[in-house]
Amino acid sequence: MNTKVYHIAEDKKEYILKNAAEIIQNGGLLAIPTETVYGLGANALDGKAVLGIFEAKGRPQDNPLLIHVPDVSWLERYCEEIPPLAYKLAEFFWPGPLTMILKGKPCIPKETTCGLRTIGVRCPDNEVTAEIIRMAGVPVAAPSANRSGHPSCTTAEAVLEDFSGRIDGIVDDGACQVGVESTILDMTVSPPKLLRPGGLSLEDIRKVVPEAEADESIYRQLRKGEKPKAPGMKYRHYAPKAPVTAVFGRGQKGADYIKERIKEDEGVICYEEYLGMFDGYERRSLGKEGDPGEHARRVFEVLRSFDRTDVTHIWTQCPGEEGLDLAVSNRIKKAAGFHVVSAE
Ligand code: TXA
Ligand code: MG
Repeated sequence: MNTKVYHIAEDKKEYILKNAAEIIQNGGLLAIPTETVYGLGANALDGKAVLGIFEAKGRPQDNPLLIHVPDVSWLERYCEEIPPLAYKLAEFFWPGPLTMILKGKPCIPKETTCGLRTIGVRCPDNEVTAEIIRMAGVPVAAPSANRSGHPSCTTAEAVLEDFSGRIDGIVDDGACQVGVESTILDMTVSPPKLLRPGGLSLEDIRKVVPEAEADESIYRQLRKGEKPKAPGMKYRHYAPKAPVTAVFGRGQKGADYIKERIKEDEGVICYEEYLGMFDGYERRSLGKEGDPGEHARRVFEVLRSFDRTDVTHIWTQCPGEEGLDLAVSNRIKKAAGFHVVSAE
């Protein structure tokens, strides 16, 4: 299969939208841009098309897909018993990086939900993708567009690395502005529960829903035999080929810790301020220490970039848990398989 890349440009927009919507309508696989990460999309109502996503990703069959809608008016088509709070959250945060888990309607096939009665719904903040979904006239099921276990993709080039020849097309709308996946909030429980930290911070959610809670499992590794509430959270995730050690500890202390231990053939991810300490090593910057938005935009691409090198091990500074850094540190810890050391 020849994977066609559609670069968004004003004069070609109409042609691209038409082709992209046709791929979805015809049961094909299309990588779509969103503000968080690129998604691997198919018609969420077409079980056969959805199975193609699992196959292309190498994704386990018990890991349900989110559906993407262009605006809140589509919610009632696919969900029932929608609490008023869900509409309030949509008003504040849609389009944007918030996925709500709601009770699904039977029109969503089991291939999409993996047999769950609930469904994750997301309204991405990307005009092109919203228009493709509107034109296709169906919700688009889309996990992050990466091979299962790999770091997610924030550029079309990264998607091509993972899926060239495996999918019909990629809509290239440049680099994702948020960089980490959406925040998943379970609206079927009271108070609503955060199942995955993401591009919308818990602090921001609490401005609208002060009682929202984070599920405690997001801070640690799953226990043996434990069943996560977001099924995908149990799999090894976001991992580059080389093993990763996450170093928790503020600024200089973390950088010093790594400097004392790093070997010649190892790589390092550190804050911009400390890059100069690692001259001669494969080194990547996570952005300035005080800039969580930049950490989020960079984290997946720096992890992926080490797969284009021969490093045998990656040391990375790991931010704290405030604001967007909660999502960034969660992704780094998972990439490290929870191999986290403290420099404090
Ligand atoms: O930002 C995002 O959310 C991206 C973009 C492409 O929209 N999508 C994304 O999808 O991250 P995915 O499949 O990589 O991650 C979705 C997570 C998985 O861990 C899955 O298990 C969980 O959501 N999930 C899906 N349906 C669920 C449900 N009904 N209840 C609980 N968790 C669910
Ligand atoms: Mg994913």
